[in-house]
Formats: sequence, C-alpha cells, structure tokens
Amino acid sequence: MIRHAILSLAAGATTLALVGYASSRAATPVDNSPVYRPVTSDLMNEVIQPRHIKLWLAGKAGNWTFAEYERHNLQGAFNRMAIAIPTYKGTQVTDMLDAFVKQPFADLDSAIKAKDQVAFTKAYGALTDGCNSCHLSTDHAMAVIKTPNAAAFPDQEFAPPKP
Ligand code: HEC
Repeated sequence: MIRHAILSLAAGATTLALVGYASSRAATPVDNSPVYRPVTSDLMNEVIQPRHIKLWLAGKAGNWTFAEYERHNLQGAFNRMAIAIPTYKGTQVTDMLDAFVKQPFADLDSAIKAKDQVAFTKAYGALTDGCNSCHLSTDHAMAVIKTPNAAAFPDQEFAPPKP
C-alpha cells in the first residue's frame, strides 16, 4: 500500500516535471525580429574606416604584429562586404576590389613583413588612393579619404607592448 503510494507520487512528480518542461519550452520567446542588414555606407563607417585608421596608427608606431592584424581584418572586411553585398548599382564589388585595393593590400603585406616604414607609408598611400578611386567610380567622389592626421582611439595604445 505504502509502496504503491510512493510509486504513484513519483509518477505524479515525473508527469509534473514533464509538463513543466514542455510549458517552459513553449514559453521560450521566439525571436521574429527582422535581421539588421547594414548597407555599404554603414559598413564603410563602422568597419572599413576605423580599421583604415588603426592600420596607419599601428604601422607608424612600429607595432608590426598589430599592423598585420589590421591589414588582415580590413582586407577580410572588404571580402565579407563583397559576399554580403555582391553588386553596387550593377557593378560587381569583387571587380572593384580587384581594381582598386588588391595590389595595395599585397604591398602592405610585404611592407609589414619586412617591417619597412618607407614601403608601408607608400603602400598605405596607394590603399588610400584605392579608397578614393572606388568612391569616384561609384559616384561618391565627395567621400574623400586621407592619411589620418590624428589618433582617434584614446583608449587604445598603438605602440608595441613592452616585453
Ligand atoms: C568597392 C568600392 C569601395 C572601396 C574599395 C572603398 N569604398 Fe568607401 N564607399 C564606397 C561606396 C559605394 C560608398 C557610398 C555608399 C553609399 O552611401 O551608398 C562609400 C562611402 C564611404 C564613406 C562615407 C560613409 C559616410 O557616411 O561617411 C567612407 C568614410 C568610406 N567609404 C571609407 C572608405 C575607406 C577608408 C576605404 C579604403 C580603406 C574605402 N571606403 C574603400 C565604396 C568603396
């Protein structure tokens, strides 16, 4: 009799636990909010421009490890942009990247590997020219990019860390 009571209590508890589990699952809110899809100008402001500045600050400070990190991330960001937004007003973004920034990125890669300030400055200038050539070709000549003349990240040290 007692044994039967314990068994049915246990069964009842299991049922309650299962009901609780099912209802907590049903209560899990489903996120139906639309996905935020940045457009080209968002990506330029949020991703491309800050990395372009940081690349300069790192190279000028001789922090070659960080310069390579930013070069890699800036080039990667352009490539990801080309996947997310394959054409801009009818032109393939990959074609524009090949025409305007591919060679400067390769030259930056070599300059950074060689820890060569002069080559870095030259390749960075060519990259910046590439930014402006693409702006010109996409009817955005008014978005003029230049070599940074000030540091814009007061909370970040660009000099290499002390060993
Ligand atoms: C593949 C072509 C292309 C390349 C390369 C490119 N841009 Fe752009 N950029 C654009 C286009 C297109 C716009 C305008 C987007 C729009 O408003 O629809 C733009 C706009 C901008 C803007 C203006 C956004 C704003 O609201 O202030 C900035 C800043 C910018 N680019 C930075 C850069 C920098 C820095 C580089 C180089 C490291 C670069 N871009 C390289 C295509 C390019």
